[in-house]
Amino acid sequence: MVTGAAGALGSMAARTFARAGAKLLLADLSADRLAALADELRGQQGSEVVTGVVDVTDADQVAGLVDRAAELGAPVSVLLNNAGVPMSKTLMESTPDDWRRVFEANVIGTVVPTQACVRGMVRQGYGRIVNVSSITARTSVPQRCAYGATKAAVSNMTQSFAVEFGGHGITVNAIAPSAVVTDMNRDLLASQPEVYRDLMAHTPVGRMCVADDLAGVLLLLASPASAFINGQTVYIDGGFTVM
Ligand SMILES: NC(=O)c1ccc[n+]([C@@H]2O[C@H](COP(=O)([O-])OP(=O)(O)OC[C@H]3O[C@@H](n4cnc5c(N)ncnc54)[C@H](O)[C@@H]3O)[C@@H](O)[C@H]2O)c1
Repeated sequence: MVTGAAGALGSMAARTFARAGAKLLLADLSADRLAALADELRGQQGSEVVTGVVDVTDADQVAGLVDRAAELGAPVSVLLNNAGVPMSKTLMESTPDDWRRVFEANVIGTVVPTQACVRGMVRQGYGRIVNVSSITARTSVPQRCAYGATKAAVSNMTQSFAVEFGGHGITVNAIAPSAVVTDMNRDLLASQPEVYRDLMAHTPVGRMCVADDLAGVLLLLASPASAFINGQTVYIDGGFTVM
């Protein structure tokens, strides 16, 4: 199950899992983008796909989609908590409602699908949960104070959930990418050369992250091969956070 599946990173993850032979439950708020992705995956890969226009902060909606895993013949064994929203304001520009909005989507939106999937995983004695954090969980980035706080919460919950479910064959880990060049932000980055220069100056690998940089780690953390990796946040940032 992939949440936020219709977005830039979610659709990359769905394609990656589909190529690996997964049957997919895809959740997003955007019906149009979900339908287009599902058509693509069914057409190009012959994948079995169930989609749900679901708000990941709504427990009933999420439970309804998780139940539909029966249509794919198996309960959810891998959950990618990818749905999230950005927030670009300084502390003094932001309102309490800005903070509530980003915490609701990024934190509650991780808790609810985890609760919905973990019962079945406990029954199976197997599960892989991968949360999407960010470099802002660990380092201060201008105008990302609220967003970074949500991602620090995601990384911290990753540790707590890993401890809570590790004895049930379930691992919980997170990936933490630096800014990923996507179709949506490519023009923005090009129009802000100083932001791009700053990022490059702090990225030893010397280029921006692209969505495909996440695929290998996602496959590992979603597979039985990662059975002894638990509670970790894997930074996929070209060395940004160690510089
Ligand atoms: N793009 C980056 O540079 C970057 C870097 C680090 C981490 N991330 C994280 O990666 C994840 C995906 O980001 P992206 O760049 O693909 O963004 P995106 O906006 O392209 O995709 C996010 C998707 O989540 C969906 N979504 C948002 N709130 C939802 C809700 N309540 N219920 C269901 N779906 C919801 C949106 O409809 C959208 O399709 C996010 O958690 C983001 O914080 C992104």
